[in-house]
Amino acid sequence: MREVNTFVGENCIVLNVKTNCIYPACAIISKIRDNEWYFDRLMVPKEARHQGFASRLMEKLVSLLDEKDIELINEVHGRGDLNNDQLVVFYKKYGFQETERPYRLLRLPH
Ligand SMILES: CC(C)(COP(=O)(O)OP(=O)(O)OC[C@H]1O[C@@H](n2cnc3c(N)ncnc32)[C@H](O)[C@@H]1OP(=O)(O)O)[C@@H](O)C(=O)NCCC(=O)NCCS
Repeated sequence: MREVNTFVGENCIVLNVKTNCIYPACAIISKIRDNEWYFDRLMVPKEARHQGFASRLMEKLVSLLDEKDIELINEVHGRGDLNNDQLVVFYKKYGFQETERPYRLLRLPH
């Protein structure tokens, strides 16, 4: 399995991993204020889906969130194979919790 590459900037963290098609799979988060961040993007190219790429990105992401004490807001808006309810189940496995706003999840660092 290929390595997950990580770029940690002051206001942005990007994780990506090569797939067998030309595009990598990626996860991007951006800083809103202090330790509060927003989940911009989780995307796996269509041809590379269902092979565990999103799960690998999420594992790496949550370890960084805990290490850096980052609180992450995640507005679930599925654009592919998984619908919003399936995505909520998926994200909950990585410590996200539902909030009073439908499909707005929050993950506090552990
Ligand atoms: C959502 C997305 C990132 C998942 O990527 P992926 O690499 O296919 O996901 P994985 O292979 O790591 O699988 C993640 C989980 O979803 C499940 N899953 C993946 N594709 C599925 C499908 N078509 N039907 C049902 N379950 C599916 C897997 O079984 C796995 O479950 P598990 O954690 O219980 O093992 C991908 O479909 C995508 O890029 N969609 C378009 C962008 C999008 O909607 N992003 C999320 C915005 S909130």
